[in-house]
Amino acid sequence: MQTDIHQVLIGRRRIASRIQALARQITADLRSSGQRAPADDLPLTLVPILTGSIIFVADLIRHLPLRMRLNLISVSSYPGASTRSQGVRLRRALENLPPSLAGTHLLVLDDILDTGRTLTRVTQLLQRRQPASLRTCVLLRKDRPTAHNFPVNYVGFDIPDAFVVGFGLDFNGHYRNLPDIVTLKPQVIARVQRRG
Ligand code: IMP
Ligand code: MG
Repeated sequence: MQTDIHQVLIGRRRIASRIQALARQITADLRSSGQRAPADDLPLTLVPILTGSIIFVADLIRHLPLRMRLNLISVSSYPGASTRSQGVRLRRALENLPPSLAGTHLLVLDDILDTGRTLTRVTQLLQRRQPASLRTCVLLRKDRPTAHNFPVNYVGFDIPDAFVVGFGLDFNGHYRNLPDIVTLKPQVIARVQRRG
């Protein structure tokens, strides 16, 4: 696995400190939106988008000193060995969420903002259930015009338009367990894609 790495784009220490900063900012913003109630009584539901966000979310929530629920949803846009979005597929999307989210503050979390299709679809569906507020947060945002069209509230890092893996992000299902965010050697991607 290590020999497949081309370049470490963001190391684990930088990731960890950025996540702490994001958590501080999110906490402060949520506290100020709950002016009438103590922050701990704010009905807050985090909606992580599986699978790529799991490591990010696991780290982030341990720095959020707020009472919260977690509602995982599952979306896929890079099936198999693709390195370009193949369109959003909503699997088991919102079935675990109550039909009405009135009074609930939502924070949707994803690993990376690329075309913006995933967050656009997911936030449209969630808005229909009329939450008290809906914010979005991604660990990474790619430097692509489409990514900048989506008005995400919190971004960990802006990165170049490259295919990255590690810290939850996969290629063909692998590399999620790499502790850093890295690019793969082109021949590694080519080899897997040739196999189909
Ligand atoms: P979007 O809908 O195009 O914004 O894509 C977002 C989803 O595509 C993310 O949740 C990731 O699962 C996946 N994705 C986008 N870029 C990458 C990448 O560079 N590496 C791995 N997965 C990616
Ligand atoms: Mg994803």
